[in-house]
Amino acid sequence: MNRRNFLKYSLRGLIVATLGKGYYNSTAAQVELVRVPVRIKQLPTPLQGLKIGLLTDFHSSFIVSDGLIKASADLVMSERPDVIVLAGDFISGSTKFLSGSIGEFKPRYLERCAAALSHLKAPLGIYGVLGNHDFWSGLAAVGAICDTLSKRVGVTWLRNTSVELNKAGATFHLLGVDDYWESSCSLAAACKGINGDSIKILLSHNPDINDDISLSNERIDLVLSGHTHGGQIVVPFLGQPVMPSKFGQKYRQGLARDGERQTYVSRGVGCLLAPIRLNCMPEATVLTLF
Ligand SMILES: [Fe+2]
Repeated sequence: MNRRNFLKYSLRGLIVATLGKGYYNSTAAQVELVRVPVRIKQLPTPLQGLKIGLLTDFHSSFIVSDGLIKASADLVMSERPDVIVLAGDFISGSTKFLSGSIGEFKPRYLERCAAALSHLKAPLGIYGVLGNHDFWSGLAAVGAICDTLSKRVGVTWLRNTSVELNKAGATFHLLGVDDYWESSCSLAAACKGINGDSIKILLSHNPDINDDISLSNERIDLVLSGHTHGGQIVVPFLGQPVMPSKFGQKYRQGLARDGERQTYVSRGVGCLLAPIRLNCMPEATVLTLF
């Protein structure tokens, strides 16, 4: 074999190996349970140790198996969380992003997602917000997602509203907004009627909601988000320069801080466009407040 052929076959081999590794990383066997301790200032004693299970970006579709979604739910349940939050992009059927029959909303993928999440249970309940791909699938899809996951999983939807939750006599507020890219997103509506001193945890699919929070001067203690997929394909030394966020890399994954406010961004469960993840495993998250 001459030098040119050697380089050609080596390069092909490297590409095949990388794609194979990327595919393997996107499978159920590779979901990582990420435990995140989060310090909240002046957290009432009964809320110390409160566990929040966070799952997001399932993207149930022909490239995301129900086994992967179920594996993520199993990991969260293994930690016995007090409350579970689902941060949107339940499906991938977006005609805005994917063309033709690929982009249509297909009810069978929503059914698969609901079945894979049906064993979720938490003493303080299961709450959800919608992501951009849920909205991009059309009004009928939004209705079907809300209806199906309410009935099959017991999800309470936080569409620009809040709930007061109570653990051992101490209360906090869980707020949720529609996707940040939708005109229906309203932080003001979600914050309405909440006592200024209450601990406030905001569920928002897109972490860019931080822009609205900063502009509004609302005090939010913790924001829980997904949307970025952690980059999904993160190249060594290069990272993932194309982020769907006005803040670039700031909210790509993990904990970010804006003064006293913290934002946790999960890498999410599913994949978009191709069943490939590189240096960016699918994630099931359990946050513990202290
Ligand atoms: Fe997503």
